[in-house]
Amino acid sequence: MSTIADTMIRKIRAQDEASLARLYEAAFPTEDLVPLLRRLHAEVPDLLSLVAVGGANASGAENSSEECVGHALFTPCAVEGTDRQVALLGPIAVAPFRQRQGLGATLIREGSARLCQSGIQQVLVLGDPAYYGRLGFRPEKRIRPPYELPADWAGAWQSALLEGNAAPLSGTLRPPGAWLAPSLWAP
Ligand SMILES: CC(C)(COP(=O)(O)OP(=O)(O)OC[C@H]1O[C@@H](n2cnc3c(N)ncnc32)[C@H](O)[C@@H]1OP(=O)(O)O)[C@@H](O)C(=O)NCCC(=O)NCCS
Repeated sequence: MSTIADTMIRKIRAQDEASLARLYEAAFPTEDLVPLLRRLHAEVPDLLSLVAVGGANASGAENSSEECVGHALFTPCAVEGTDRQVALLGPIAVAPFRQRQGLGATLIREGSARLCQSGIQQVLVLGDPAYYGRLGFRPEKRIRPPYELPADWAGAWQSALLEGNAAPLSGTLRPPGAWLAPSLWAP
């Protein structure tokens, strides 16, 4: 468990469901990721799902409630041709009034530390290199995503090694079924 500006980061609990949906509606006003989140939570037992709760609320007052102001999801995935797992990061969301305060970076660092403790040494993400590059992610060439990406998305496929001496894996990513929809891998 870690804290940033009185905001606690902890594993998600069943009672966070409504608050998590509110967070995603605010952070992604034009995209409905809640069905994907529900499916992943229901179907993937070893999912690492972290929420940030507490700190100041939208009006600046101290928020003693358990309202989610941040969330990051890490899905353990197989890599075809190896017996090791990696984690797929995403989605990640921070409440608009708490963005640019380091919460997204803290969620990613906390998740990475927990994954490392559980023996996972590499995290992959499909996202903006301008953001993830600052957090140690580099373009990924060895592990292929489950669907071919559009050419202008190639730089968005990135990974970070969680230990200095970790050997990068090669092969095709085999995520659980909830991730196997081509629309999740295309603009
Ligand atoms: C992307 C997101 C999770 C980042 O969380 P955050 O807590 O705001 O990020 P941090 O405070 O750790 O880092 C902020 C820095 O990253 C930059 N940044 C934030 N989002 C960015 C993005 N999408 N692209 C590039 N840079 C970004 C900011 O410019 C900021 O740097 P600066 O303040 O020096 O300019 C958050 O902005 C968010 O929820 N956005 C809407 C949902 C989304 O796009 N999620 C990612 C795809 S799943």
